[in-house]
Amino acid sequence: MDVGKVGVVGAGTMGNGIAHVFARSGLQVILSDIEPKFLDRAIQTIEKNLEREVAKNKITAADKSAALERIVTTVERAKLAECDFVVEAATEKFEIKAELFRDLDRICRPEVILAWHAFFQSGASDEISRGDSRPGDFR
Ligand SMILES: NC(=O)c1ccc[n+]([C@@H]2O[C@H](COP(=O)([O-])OP(=O)(O)OC[C@H]3O[C@@H](n4cnc5c(N)ncnc54)[C@H](O)[C@@H]3O)[C@@H](O)[C@H]2O)c1
Repeated sequence: MDVGKVGVVGAGTMGNGIAHVFARSGLQVILSDIEPKFLDRAIQTIEKNLEREVAKNKITAADKSAALERIVTTVERAKLAECDFVVEAATEKFEIKAELFRDLDRICRPEVILAWHAFFQSGASDEISRGDSRPGDFR
């Protein structure tokens, strides 16, 4: 499957960095969080970090603008239905993560890979993906 649009759940330290890298790579990004203020903060951080890359001549000002334009923010998880790949970078709390992935499983198309960025111990993915309709695609 071609991946053109990716979802990132959680716009904190890890999430905004992941969104930055995806957008820089030319992918459309939907960055989601629970409150607009966290999304605003994330966009400010991404903009600052892109500007740093411009200052170091790693990218041009046009690259920076294009990357920022590729990122859409939302507090509505259902919008992630548009994504071809979704990575969660929100929480280590098992109950919240399990609920979140159950919801993502319902929202996202069956072929979409759902991934997380966490310190979780091995075996936890089996627990969380129990009842999931795509355990083989759960990373
Ligand atoms: N910071 C690190 O160095 C690091 C390294 C490896 C892994 N991690 C893991 O990555 C994940 C994110 O870490 P972080 O440092 O970015 O945390 P953070 O606290 O900076 O950001 C987490 C963000 O997720 C949002 N969030 C919480 N619950 C949510 C939900 N149900 N739906 C959508 N958004 C939600 C919060 O509002 C916050 O903006 C954690 O699981 C953490 O353990 C962090």
